[in-house]
Amino acid sequence: MSSQLEPRQDWWTELCGVDLVDWYKSHGRDLPWRHSRDPWAVLVAEVMLQQTHVDRVMARWGGFVSDLPDARTCAAAGRAEIVARWHGMGFNRRAVNLHRAAEQIVAEHGGAVPDDLTALLALPGVGAYTARAVRVFSFELVDAVLDTNVARVLARSAGARLTQGAAQAAADAIVDREHPWAWNQAMLDVGAMHCRPNPECEGCPFFAVCAWAGSGYVEPDPSIRSAGVSAPQSRFEGSDRQGRGRLVDALRRGPVEPGDLAAAMGWRDDPDRAQRVAGRVIADGLATRRDDGSYALA
Ligand code: ADE
Repeated sequence: MSSQLEPRQDWWTELCGVDLVDWYKSHGRDLPWRHSRDPWAVLVAEVMLQQTHVDRVMARWGGFVSDLPDARTCAAAGRAEIVARWHGMGFNRRAVNLHRAAEQIVAEHGGAVPDDLTALLALPGVGAYTARAVRVFSFELVDAVLDTNVARVLARSAGARLTQGAAQAAADAIVDREHPWAWNQAMLDVGAMHCRPNPECEGCPFFAVCAWAGSGYVEPDPSIRSAGVSAPQSRFEGSDRQGRGRLVDALRRGPVEPGDLAAAMGWRDDPDRAQRVAGRVIADGLATRRDDGSYALA
């Protein structure tokens, strides 16, 4: 073991020697959306997984896609219904974006989720990760997904902070071109099961080739502030996000009168803040003001 990190130019070539697809066969997680190749069902799963824990998505994804089995049904359901159905998932803007994406899929792609990267990236709420995830996990195209978990695996394996471009280029270089679906699922699982913020390296298929493990975990952890690796979330308690969530929860039950707004958001003593944040909820397309001044789901 060396005592300091020595990142090499070609660090990812060693990762190619790891048979990740074989590892996945016996160690991969059996998650419900992995049994589907339906592009709409996969898109819904990926949007949910962007910011919601796997356990919660497991409880919600099946019902959502069985009630709204395609983009056309989702678009026709209306935005307020999708926001209402998003209850308990958090980050409600995703519901608005998913509904907008459904409308765009109907208007521009005849109701079928496209497989083209540019067309996917043009959908509201679909970024580099989600677009590639749809291509790989439904169409089984050769692409490499890069989420916070995969970015952590790559930075630690490299023994260096990576730029977004370097991380994506490395992932693109090492993806198993014969089995992109299983390879990408395995990368997500390595990040979620072993290469966690506090690493659990026993059994990790990359252990023998990981520069950071090889260094004896010399500080700092190269994944910290590496591109694509999310920083710990800021405190929810007392945040604008908490007030936003409370307002949307109240609106799911029915309209809110202006005089009840601050209380609904948990800010009885700060009506100015309530109004300001409610304004942003409206600007994001989640809520609207009705003619009588009350707030309602958009
Ligand atoms: N399988 C497919 N996409 C996934 C994701 N984003 N997280 C966990 N498992 C997945």
